[in-house]
Amino acid sequence: MNQQAGRVAVITGAASGIGRGLAEHAAAQGLRLLLSDVDGARLDALCGELRAGGATAVPCIADVGDPAQVDYLRDTALDHFGGVDLLFNNAGVMQTGLCWEISAAQWQRMLEVNLNGVINGIRAFVPLLLQQGRPAHVINTASLAGLVSSPLMGPYNVTKQAVVALSETLHYELAMLGAPVSVSVLCPGPVASAIMASNQARDGASSQLDALLDSGIRAGMAPRELAEQVFAGIAERRFWLLPHKFFKPALERRMQSILEETNPVFQMAAMEGEDHAA
Ligand SMILES: NC(=O)c1ccc[n+]([C@@H]2O[C@H](COP(=O)([O-])OP(=O)(O)OC[C@H]3O[C@@H](n4cnc5c(N)ncnc54)[C@H](O)[C@@H]3O)[C@@H](O)[C@H]2O)c1
Repeated sequence: MNQQAGRVAVITGAASGIGRGLAEHAAAQGLRLLLSDVDGARLDALCGELRAGGATAVPCIADVGDPAQVDYLRDTALDHFGGVDLLFNNAGVMQTGLCWEISAAQWQRMLEVNLNGVINGIRAFVPLLLQQGRPAHVINTASLAGLVSSPLMGPYNVTKQAVVALSETLHYELAMLGAPVSVSVLCPGPVASAIMASNQARDGASSQLDALLDSGIRAGMAPRELAEQVFAGIAERRFWLLPHKFFKPALERRMQSILEETNPVFQMAAMEGEDHAA
């Protein structure tokens, strides 16, 4: 048994990809799980598999973009487990295209899921975590797009950079209170997942990017490997969780361009093999 055994984790976007990897790893560590997603069939199948392996895994269908459904998720956690120790605000979707060609509805969907989803998670759960008065941890899934911008990914860059800003703010505020609740922001590069299925395909330049993203993601880090790194970071109460290192030169160039007030120039980051071993 490890130090996480018996603790309660809530994971949004748990039915696939990174969320599923986190759920499988957490189950193997003996955590009790409330798993949430909009895809009820895949969620039920995952919970069934985890229970067959001896884990405690309760499904809860909830759309993170709707504050009432995220409140319901918190209430479900209280009903089943009486409290929460780890909250993973992980659900997210993709939209590529030129900023001005992406429709108002597509922008809205991205803001609702990727940004409001995290805001709703924080608003629903942080008061409970504070009230519990014991150590707890909030992990928000951003992306390397939360630290460096690429063309043709406007809504993704915008929402993920907002998640980084929100996570830093939450971290400062909890520290200001001296609360035993800590925060991490997860900024991965490519991780093997189904996220490109959520992209509403477009013609032209973005379709080339889509093909590139799709193959990069398919060849990305295995979700279980990522989950191991995330849990190691949680154990150390580390704020920045940057499992891929290949984009750090791009981050450095961005910081330099800001500090030196020079115009940003986009360069495609070269991926190092060690960063995305499947
Ligand atoms: N895969 C990558 O390369 C990568 C890299 C960086 C960050 N991320 C981020 O990781 C997170 C997980 O994505 P993934 O790559 O595992 O994708 P995925 O598509 O495999 O999994 C995302 C899950 O979220 C669920 N979901 C979608 N909209 C939802 C909503 N409104 N409410 C609740 N659940 C919803 C989906 O049904 C799906 O099961 C996202 O925030 C994504 O932006 C992914």
